[in-house]
Amino acid sequence: MKVVIFGITGQDGSYLAELLVKKGYEVIGVTRRVSVNTLSRIEHILPQLTIVEGDITDGFNISKIIESHEPDEVYNLAAQSHVGTSFKQPSLTWDITGAGVLNILEAIRYSSRKDQIRFYQASSSEMFGKNYTTSENASLMMSDDKVVVDDPTGKGFYEYKKYQDENTPFIPQSPYGIAKLAAHHLVRNYRESYGIHGSCGILFNHESERRGEQFVTRKITKWIGEFVLWSNQSSMDIDTTSDPDFILDNGRKFPKLRLGNLDARRDWGHAADYVEAMWLMLQQDEPDDYVVATGETRSVREFLDASFSFVEVDDWSNLVVIDPEFYRAAEVEYLLGIPTKAKRKLGWSPRIDFKSLAERMVAYDVKEAGLQRPSIQTV
Ligand code: NAP
Ligand code: GDD
Repeated sequence: MKVVIFGITGQDGSYLAELLVKKGYEVIGVTRRVSVNTLSRIEHILPQLTIVEGDITDGFNISKIIESHEPDEVYNLAAQSHVGTSFKQPSLTWDITGAGVLNILEAIRYSSRKDQIRFYQASSSEMFGKNYTTSENASLMMSDDKVVVDDPTGKGFYEYKKYQDENTPFIPQSPYGIAKLAAHHLVRNYRESYGIHGSCGILFNHESERRGEQFVTRKITKWIGEFVLWSNQSSMDIDTTSDPDFILDNGRKFPKLRLGNLDARRDWGHAADYVEAMWLMLQQDEPDDYVVATGETRSVREFLDASFSFVEVDDWSNLVVIDPEFYRAAEVEYLLGIPTKAKRKLGWSPRIDFKSLAERMVAYDVKEAGLQRPSIQTV
């Protein structure tokens, strides 16, 4: 079996490539030409991959790749995937995250192997934006926050009164979410109009040790790693209160962690689990759309609590600065996905929970910081 992966150099692309190599696929990864090396996440499996150059904004080139490599499966993970950046570069985001998908769909539509190709599109919980479903049974429930909805993960009942599933209408809040929603509808339209076997995974946030450093979880764990290294070289009396922006230690200083909205809630899973759901979707006879999530919601504040607890910091309030720079023009405040359909139809369940996710990321970044010896600012 042959597969083409757009976005192979990203977090998900690297885990998916690993999974498919293990399954015996011939994996063709498409990468953009850039002036730096972007292959670090897939370096360990490079000998087993075929890397070809391509950009999903270049329709002709995409057609050529699909026609010449004759894949059985095509995964589109390529995107300008940062929501904050999409407010600053909406046109670029539209061209890649929205129109780029149309290029792939057109390439498949006109391919001589249209009926043999199965296509996966990386849709996103960001498409739900400010919308959620409210359980009708909410008033019957014991706690303010919670209601029994179903048994999405097999671990017992999940009890929330606000959630998103495949039936929740989309009200996206960002240029990124809007571009993803356009692509989502295009896949459905090409499925219905041309019989393309196209499935969309509506994936909720998933993180890992390979997560991009601008996303909030990795930004936090990376900072913790560097802070642990710095504080190990410090005297016993680190001063966290005298300077609003820096942590001080006898003439040495370390910048505090600058973040935006700590109250936003996300449904956070691990990327290695989520790429399995992608593959399972393409093994189904009929194409369809699936929510992939853990069924639990946590705030950024809770991620901070969990992450700092692994380095034995109970009170991080003087280590973090709230910076308006990291607030968004419009925010998605609440995400909690119910993956019942993925569980029932695909037999998929997440394995790595919130605490283990934070623990793995912190452990990795503490180790990495030690190895890299980042430069330390001095007064
Ligand atoms: P990521 O780490 O940001 O990776 C994005 C990938 O897209 C990179 O390989 C990047 O290549 C590539 N890319 C960007 N622009 C491109 C272009 N014009 N042509 C070809 N490739 C291009 O994202 P991720 O976290 O792995 O997410 C994978 C996909 O799932 C994305 O579509 C994302 O929007 C979506 N998604 C992610 C999550 C999540 O929580 N991670 C949740 C829902 C949906 P370079 O290495 O050259 O930059
Ligand atoms: N990035 C970032 N940086 N986010 C911050 C910060 C900060 O300094 N401070 C607070 N946040 C808040 C954001 O406002 C948001 O509410 C939340 O942390 C998560 O932000 P991100 O980690 O950037 O992820 P996201 O939810 O916006 O988008 C991710 O998940 C989507 C699925 O819901 C990305 O992976 C998207 O590509 C994906 O589609």
